[in-house]
Amino acid sequence: MDKRKYFSSGLSLLMLVGVILFDSCNKKEEAFSNRKVSFNSDWSFHLNDSIIDKDTITSSTKWRTLDVPHDWGVEGKFDEKSPAGYGGGALTGGLGWYKKTFKVAAADSSKVTSIIFDGVYRNSEVWVNGHYLGKRPNGYISFQYEMSPYLNYGDKNNEIIVKVDNSKQPNSRWYSGSGIFRNVWIETTDKLHVAQWGTYVTTPKVTAEKASVQFETTIQNQNPASKKATVTTTIFKEDTKVTSVTQDITIGANASQTIKQQAQVETPVLWSVEKPELYTAVTEISVDDKIVDQYKTNFGIRDFKFDVDKGFILNGKQVKIKGVCMHHDLGPLGSAINTRAIERQLEILKGMGVNGIRTSHNPPAPELLDLCDKMGFIVMDEAFDMWKQNKTKYDYGNDWDKWHKKDLIDQLLRDRNHPSIFVWSIGNEIPQQWDESGVIIAKELAAITRQYDKTRPITAAMNPPVNMNIDEVTLQFEQKNVQFNAIAKSGVLDLIGYNYAHQTYAHHKKNFPGIPFIATETTSALETRGYYDNNSDSIKKWPVRWDLKFTEGNPGNTVSAYDQVQAPWGSTHEATWKIIKKHDYLSGMYIWTGFDYIGEPTPYEWPSISSYFGIVDLAGFPKDVYYMYQSEWTDKNVLHIFPHWNWKAGQNVDVWAYYNNADEVELFLNGKSVGVRSKKGDDLHVMWRIPFQPGTLKAISRKNGKTVLESEIKTAGNASNLKLTADRSAIKADGNDLSFVIVDILDSKGVLVPNANNEINFSLKGNGKIVGVCSGDPVSHESYKGSKHTALNGKCLVVIQSGKKTGRLELTAKANGLKQSTVVITAE
Ligand code: GAL
Repeated sequence: MDKRKYFSSGLSLLMLVGVILFDSCNKKEEAFSNRKVSFNSDWSFHLNDSIIDKDTITSSTKWRTLDVPHDWGVEGKFDEKSPAGYGGGALTGGLGWYKKTFKVAAADSSKVTSIIFDGVYRNSEVWVNGHYLGKRPNGYISFQYEMSPYLNYGDKNNEIIVKVDNSKQPNSRWYSGSGIFRNVWIETTDKLHVAQWGTYVTTPKVTAEKASVQFETTIQNQNPASKKATVTTTIFKEDTKVTSVTQDITIGANASQTIKQQAQVETPVLWSVEKPELYTAVTEISVDDKIVDQYKTNFGIRDFKFDVDKGFILNGKQVKIKGVCMHHDLGPLGSAINTRAIERQLEILKGMGVNGIRTSHNPPAPELLDLCDKMGFIVMDEAFDMWKQNKTKYDYGNDWDKWHKKDLIDQLLRDRNHPSIFVWSIGNEIPQQWDESGVIIAKELAAITRQYDKTRPITAAMNPPVNMNIDEVTLQFEQKNVQFNAIAKSGVLDLIGYNYAHQTYAHHKKNFPGIPFIATETTSALETRGYYDNNSDSIKKWPVRWDLKFTEGNPGNTVSAYDQVQAPWGSTHEATWKIIKKHDYLSGMYIWTGFDYIGEPTPYEWPSISSYFGIVDLAGFPKDVYYMYQSEWTDKNVLHIFPHWNWKAGQNVDVWAYYNNADEVELFLNGKSVGVRSKKGDDLHVMWRIPFQPGTLKAISRKNGKTVLESEIKTAGNASNLKLTADRSAIKADGNDLSFVIVDILDSKGVLVPNANNEINFSLKGNGKIVGVCSGDPVSHESYKGSKHTALNGKCLVVIQSGKKTGRLELTAKANGLKQSTVVITAE
């Protein structure tokens, strides 16, 4: 293995090349570090439904300066009459304009300059210096436009204008957000360059000794003359060169060409969930020994299959996919992406033992996939929530005919190098799944997918017949005159994917012999963090049927956080995991959902505006069931007891414990044992029903008579103090980094007050800002963007974003009658 350190020698080579080739760049790195640069800062924004035509923007149009990613929806007020409906989070859509003025160096006039949008929700149209670049209806797709022919170079300004039309509502079953809600980049390359998403790295043969790595690279020549060039692809592990391959090409004027290269990696370090090892392929194009373009692709070496009997096999080992479905919003930040906010979500999920993410129901921000590559998640990358037939009046179904092909191809091209992606899902609960019209589309989508990537199985998240037992399902299937999920039956899918109805899973083996299975979506259990209805051992379906309105409910639109409430099509967490755990042929599941999200506030309607499905609430606070999974899915010792210990004297309260690595748990109330319990059979928790008495509840888990863990809950007195805890007390002063600060409301002895709902006011000193406040309460209509918020059950969250200057950020929280608290965060 060549131990040449790439980045040092690479830079000195670039130094030379830079001086010779780019007369404007006398700094060494500029030659390629400028290939793709952020274009996020200093946009002007104007929201106005009545400006439909760009030319009606006048000099008196008022603009506000902001940085993207930006979501204007979350800045608005929750409104019962919002055309998006409570399903869409009762927030507003509308029509917004963005513009930005910029200069391009004179030296770049000989290059190709493009603008890249990672995602704009939705119906974006872009102009540069008055030239129309194009339109993209799909809000979740990444796209780019070449701007070079229309640019001014040197001192003269350029202006880019982006129209974002999200005015037609509803167009989503959940909160979409509005605006340039993902990153924007400027890409500058030589006229001879690697094309957009121009590399495809696969590992057709992987053994412990050797992996063959195949590169398909598309080179684009935008010169008016043909070019002779050398394409070198070098594999690096961290900064150590592993191997490289070189090929000479001749490429015609204004043409593109795809070349294939093969390399071998000896004793490859494999990508796995526990050790997500990455390699980097660096593609260099040289002309006359000068490097004119350099393009990096991260990839992983792993071997996997979905097996009919054994489920998901990764690097020869059976791995159960313990996944969660996620929507793209980031709670109080709305849908404006922030890499640290996504990373925090993934860290919280990793802590619970999650190893899989389903990007429901659309292509995600590219940063999510980068993080999944680095952190070790098994991703199901999903394309669509609807095909041609709409689910809401103004959704993508209306754009289907014109755009679906391009959108799917772009998703595949963008995402296919990510080692974390193991499954393509061509759609979620597509209404046309029941008949031939769906089969025709499924065949088309599968053919496109296979054209661009044959290395991963294709599934669709389908509905098996609801409310039927296994015999009825089998009968339905066998009766030719009865339509039974036509897509499943058509043979077009590599992996049968069912949403819910776990009682029907077993029929698949009989009726789809040879096709492996995955539970694409499960559970849909419901909880409000910190609310408990006793008794806990009755299971409730809320609403009773999916097509009925929910009238039962609790005052305050709360749902018990004992795992006892499920949507009618769903099941409790415990019931679902017991099934998935039991059968090897079930590759795994993606639970609906990891985090709560804005919109779809099942089982309630207004005034509820966000979901109850999350294992973690909107603010990022785990609900109790998080610890059931942690006890099952991680090796760390777990003993979690709940509920809180503030009840009416004499009231019977069910106390649950999730635990692992122990034979038994003993519970004590005020020092007196109330019994020893151990899980029997497939139990996932133990329970005591005891009359409430204020004081201390203490649990001890033991293995072979020895204490493993102790856990205590105390009755809290009146709220007295605020306590602030920052997840990170040092953040980067890059204008982007975040510190998530937890606010706890405590009594005078430091015990969390489990029903405290004080309004808390925040103030921040220093170069930074408060960008989100949230309690996780699905009924709260307070703005996530304010500087005050009402706590839910003793807790609240405030999100601080750094400015671009280093220094101290001092956050203070105050509430009437409570002792204030301050936390210091350093921006470095
Ligand atoms: C599923 C659907 C999800 C979400 C969920 C709520 O059927 O795929 O998008 O709506 O129900 O339970």
